Amino acid sequence: METKLVGGMSDEEREVGQGKVLRRITQSGTPFARALHAFVKRDSPEERGEKRLTARGDIDSLPAVYLAAAVLDPLYIFDAGGSILYSNEAADLAFGPVAKSVSLRLKFRAPEMHELVSRVISGEEQSTAINYAERVPVERAYRVVASRIGNDTGLYVLMFKDQSEARRIDRMRADFIANASHELRTPLASVAGFIETLRGPARDDPAARDNFLQIMQNQTQRMARLIDDLLSLSRLEMKPYQKPNVQLDVVALVKGVIESMRHIASENGVDIVSELGDTPLLVAGHSDELVQVFENLLENACKYGSSGERIVVSADQASPMDEVRVTVQDFGPGIPEEHIPRITERFYRVDVETSRTQKGTGLGLSIVKHILTRHDARLSVKSGVGKGAMFMVHFPPVPPSPVGVERA
Ligand SMILES: Nc1ncnc2c1ncn2[C@@H]1O[C@H](COP(=O)(O)OP(=O)(O)OP(=O)(O)O)[C@@H](O)[C@H]1O
Ligand SMILES: [Mg+2]
Repeated sequence: METKLVGGMSDEEREVGQGKVLRRITQSGTPFARALHAFVKRDSPEERGEKRLTARGDIDSLPAVYLAAAVLDPLYIFDAGGSILYSNEAADLAFGPVAKSVSLRLKFRAPEMHELVSRVISGEEQSTAINYAERVPVERAYRVVASRIGNDTGLYVLMFKDQSEARRIDRMRADFIANASHELRTPLASVAGFIETLRGPARDDPAARDNFLQIMQNQTQRMARLIDDLLSLSRLEMKPYQKPNVQLDVVALVKGVIESMRHIASENGVDIVSELGDTPLLVAGHSDELVQVFENLLENACKYGSSGERIVVSADQASPMDEVRVTVQDFGPGIPEEHIPRITERFYRVDVETSRTQKGTGLGLSIVKHILTRHDARLSVKSGVGKGAMFMVHFPPVPPSPVGVERA
């Protein structure tokens, strides 16, 4: 199974966004292209037969439904009997289309919604709001506002503000703090325990003292590593997004990383086989950040794939117009498919115990993901139980005229 973990738009989507596709069609010279070109060019409202509403008086008489249709949040207009007179496109998309004059109470059966509508119709309140959640087909949370329109129209508006994304971010933040403090509390509790033992029962036992001090040192190192990783992530998030403007040879860069990882590989009984070749492959990037990416991938392959005794690193680019791909493949136990989409989440570990014994914090791949996103690059993972793991980094091709070339 291949899962795209990182990266925003596909090349096609990016080209559509930049207007390249439209330009390509309109320049193709076919009759359709000429007609499309003429239409696109007719961009003044007068040419399209539109009337301009500019005077203040015109604004006062602007039909309310024009405004309602322009609102991107779901919106209904209803009367004093609670019948829906109008729903905008966003409302139809979110809650399904409604037949004319359907009762709001039938459309939304939640008691709190009935109460909200009653309160505003009875004139108890001019404008009032509640939180409302939909569970099917997907869970969504809304802030719903009901307001009277004007003083004597007999009309009311119901507006939905989607809060699902804000809620999700709040939940992630809370999870993150819980995870980070849990990760720090475990080694801290163990250090505190050993200090107590050293001051008490083990006070006069030099052998136990050495042993305990060693464990304490390991635990404090683990805390330091966790804090380094957290700082590294937060630095990446804080840095203003800056497109890398230096081109570097990723083949040379990865060769350097392999050399620096040889000792970890041999500690784990793994051989790193380079199939990188000698052809330089240029990518736009920050070398320190890319070193961090490949260190993380190689370290994981050494730690979790050691039973395969071999890691193969390769790189390729089909043509200068194609993406540059760098692959780190191990032949260890692999990753069960259901875990693959989640392994770049912070603190996510397939097997917490194995990762802990390998001194992992579960942050490595989320750092990799952050860095690659900043490079317009993405990570894909192919793996399955017993099949080893293949991590592939895909870099976009670099434009033909380099801004500067840096040898890694
Ligand atoms: N090559 C691999 N083979 C098998 N499992 C892997 C491999 N690479 C990563 N994993 C799994 O993905 C999880 C997340 O990896 P990640 O690098 O984010 O964290 P970590 O290695 O546990 O900690 P850190 O990198 O912060 O020291 C790992 O705990 C492991 O379960
Ligand atoms: Mg790791």
